[in-house]
Amino acid sequence: MPASPGPFALDDHYSYSAWRRQKLQAPPCPPFVIIDPHCGIDTAGRRAIAAQCQAHNFALFRLDEPPADPQPALRRLGRHFGLEDIDANLCAEDSGLTEITVKDTGTDNAYIPYTSRPIGWHTDGYYNPMHQQIRGMLLYCHHPAMQGGISGLLDHEIAYIRLRDQNPEWIRALMAEDAFTIPPNVEGGVQIRPATVGPVFSVSEDGHLHMRYSARQRNVEWKDDTLTREAAAALLALFESDDPFVLELRLAAGEGLISNNILHRRSGFVDSPDPRHKRVFYRARYHNRVELADLPAPAQASATTEE
Ligand SMILES: [Fe+2]
Repeated sequence: MPASPGPFALDDHYSYSAWRRQKLQAPPCPPFVIIDPHCGIDTAGRRAIAAQCQAHNFALFRLDEPPADPQPALRRLGRHFGLEDIDANLCAEDSGLTEITVKDTGTDNAYIPYTSRPIGWHTDGYYNPMHQQIRGMLLYCHHPAMQGGISGLLDHEIAYIRLRDQNPEWIRALMAEDAFTIPPNVEGGVQIRPATVGPVFSVSEDGHLHMRYSARQRNVEWKDDTLTREAAAALLALFESDDPFVLELRLAAGEGLISNNILHRRSGFVDSPDPRHKRVFYRARYHNRVELADLPAPAQASATTEE
């Protein structure tokens, strides 16, 4: 539990209700911010992305005329928001952006992201050590699947609100230091990652809410007590509900999101039989959140967002 008062302290009802009201006032889905991949993002676009990340913990963007190689534009976009600390993972490409497509990863077990199977609700890096949590994430659609491959998105702060409103004790349970354990990853008899034990919800030193979560039922261990089990079930019920903040988007070529590692999922998909048209996404993970740098006063430029 956070020592200092604020919206995430269970005894600070005033801060919580003011913050909650503001969160729920925002329309659930922000508009896309249009970016020229050659010229980069302009001040109005940066301001729009910053504002949406502040309100929703994510922003949607669209590269106008999607480039054949989007990687320079994506790296540039990340840098605008202080996203340079790219997390290395088992299948990362040299650029730090990981290409997510159906491929043989050459490991004992197929990594689901590199198959066409659905990926359940999670935040990225939930298995990372607690000192290397993922707080920022960029996802980009280079080419959509022939069918399916829909992204589900849910601001983790909304998930916090929905649970706290039902039972604040569920939040207390999910903030326990031993709420959620990921057992060690062992391949070929060799441990390549130790167990990770930690909370689901935590508050960072700068006062931001962080979530560490996976809906998978196997290879995760919930703390064995009633409140934790109820809270985990309430999250699953939220994902299945018609809550307007549980979003479903089918990203088109050139579209993506930049986020503070919100909850997300992917539906299964069918690839085109033509390998040139298979589903290709790019993803980058960062240890820091989207930085909301001070921007100069608004120019008189027209808005760069659209629905
Ligand atoms: Fe993910």
